[in-house]
Amino acid sequence: VLAVWHQLTKTEMPELSKGSVMMRDRRRVEETIRAMRRAGAGRLQVISDFDMTLSRFAHNGRRVPTTHNILDNRLLIDEECTIKMKELLNTYYPIEIDASRSAKEKLPHMVEWWTKVHELLIEQRIRKDMLARAVKESRTMLRDGYKAFFDGLYESRVPLLIFSAGVGDVLEEVIRQNHVFHANVHVISNYMDFDHTGVLRAFKGQLIHTFNKREGAVTQAAALSQLQGRPNVLLLGDSLGDLTMADGVSDPRHVLTVGFLNDQVEERKESYVNAFDVVLVRDETMDVPNAILRNVI
Ligand code: TMP
Ligand code: MG
Repeated sequence: VLAVWHQLTKTEMPELSKGSVMMRDRRRVEETIRAMRRAGAGRLQVISDFDMTLSRFAHNGRRVPTTHNILDNRLLIDEECTIKMKELLNTYYPIEIDASRSAKEKLPHMVEWWTKVHELLIEQRIRKDMLARAVKESRTMLRDGYKAFFDGLYESRVPLLIFSAGVGDVLEEVIRQNHVFHANVHVISNYMDFDHTGVLRAFKGQLIHTFNKREGAVTQAAALSQLQGRPNVLLLGDSLGDLTMADGVSDPRHVLTVGFLNDQVEERKESYVNAFDVVLVRDETMDVPNAILRNVI
């Protein structure tokens, strides 16, 4: 009987049998998907990280830039700033993804990294009117299947909250240039504050880094009226810190978490499988999230 049942569910969602998929408890995943389908699209919201979750990690063996790294363009910053930002990335990114340290241990390092980078960017007097060109000239890329993902949610009137520790202005430009910045998309991120001549002078609001998304969730996300009355959540991320992005949802019912494991795969596999319901190992596509959504809405 079990074998038959498995076959049935397999044919229902063949994407879950892809080689890149790892699950601690497939049965629970399938039950959650069924419960979400019964509740319907009207009860669902999607909360997603941006860098290395909606955007690709790599393409043809080369890393794809994050929103911060898109700013590495001579239109915006000088060579010295590029070098300093690279040094900071080489220092702090290994800490961000270090499997042997807890989020609590990483937190002060992340604050340091983001603070230093934002100070450097402010010194560069970045011009608002150059951002779109920098995005155009960059190698930024969303994951394969992104259009079906964004368009499907829009057509089904399911809100998509993009919750990013990247740079909000750059993120918006990336999704605008990919023609998927629909009306159901809400963004919580680090936004630039420009003076009246269009020169960067600060970053707005509370700093968001990889390990303080909980704070943004309970203050900013919880206040978004479009997300009210939607207790079922599909959450997508690439960092363990992303798991707190749904902490602002009041009375959550069915929450399914999907984690992209892009880097340091062997070292982090176990912790990701323990933390996310579905883990996608070196999978540069939206195939699995899209299959889940097709099943739910
Ligand atoms: P996310 O929350 O949208 O994933 O954005 C955070 C990512 O940005 C995080 O994984 C580290 C990355 N990052 C850079 O690539 N360069 C930087 O200078 C900083 C501060 C962060
Ligand atoms: Mg990310």
